[in-house]
Amino acid sequence: MRKKYVLGNWKMNHGVNEIKEYFDNFTYESNSAYVGVCPQTLHLEMAENLSGPNIKIGAQNCAYENSGAFTGEASPVALKELGVDFTLVGHSERRQFFGETNESCLKRIEKAHENKLLTVYCIGESLEEFEAGKTLDVLTEQLKTGLFPILDKVLGNIVIAYEPVWAIGTGKTATVEIITEVSAGIRKILGTHSEPATGISLLYGGSVKPANSEEIAGIADVDGVLVGGASLKVEDFEGIAKAF
Ligand code: 13P
Repeated sequence: MRKKYVLGNWKMNHGVNEIKEYFDNFTYESNSAYVGVCPQTLHLEMAENLSGPNIKIGAQNCAYENSGAFTGEASPVALKELGVDFTLVGHSERRQFFGETNESCLKRIEKAHENKLLTVYCIGESLEEFEAGKTLDVLTEQLKTGLFPILDKVLGNIVIAYEPVWAIGTGKTATVEIITEVSAGIRKILGTHSEPATGISLLYGGSVKPANSEEIAGIADVDGVLVGGASLKVEDFEGIAKAF
C-alpha cells in the first residue's frame, strides 16, 4: 500500500515568531497521511521540539557529504541530529537558481538515505519543455540519471514529487487531465527500472490550494501533494491535508 504525504515547502519564508505561532495553531491530526513542513535551514533547530506524530519536519536540501569544506551546505548528519525527518532534493528552484543537476541530486539522495532521512526527489519540466511536448523525456532523464543508479538501495526511503515548473507559484495548476497523464507516465518510467519501483509514493506540486486539493487527491496515481504558498497559512495547509 502506498503511503500518503501532505508536505509544505516554506521556501525562504517565515521567521521564528511566525513559526511558533504556526505550530501553536497547528492542531490537525491525520490518521492516514504523513504531514510535514520544510522551514528554512536556519529554523530547523526548532524541529526537535516540534517533530512528532502530528507533523514531521523536513529540510529543503541536504549536502552530499557528511562533513568538510562545503560552505553554505547543510550536513545530513547535522540534520539528523536536529531531529529532521525528511529532506527535499532537486527542487526546481535549486535546479534553476543554484545549478543543481541530476548528478548532484543522485549524490544527495544517497547521503540522505545513509543518514536515515526520507528523500522527496523533485522532478518537473519547464514551460518551454511542456509546450514542446517533452515532459516525459525530461522526467525520464531526471529519474534515470538522478535516481535509478541508487534506487534499489534507497527503495522504501524515497518519495517522488512531480512539480511542473510552469505551475509553481504562478497560480496555474496543471489540470487534472495533465496530472493524470503525467503521473501515469512517471509510473511507467519507474516500471522500466523494476516492478517494486512502481510502488513509490508520487506527489504533485504546483499551485495546490484548499480549493483544488480534493480533485488532486482523487487522481489514482497521486499519493499526496507538495505545497508552497498555501502551506504558509495553517488553515489553508490543514484544509489541504484534510483532502488526503
Ligand atoms: P506553490 O504551491 O507556491 O506553487 O509552490 C510549489 C512548490 O514549489 C512546492 O515545492
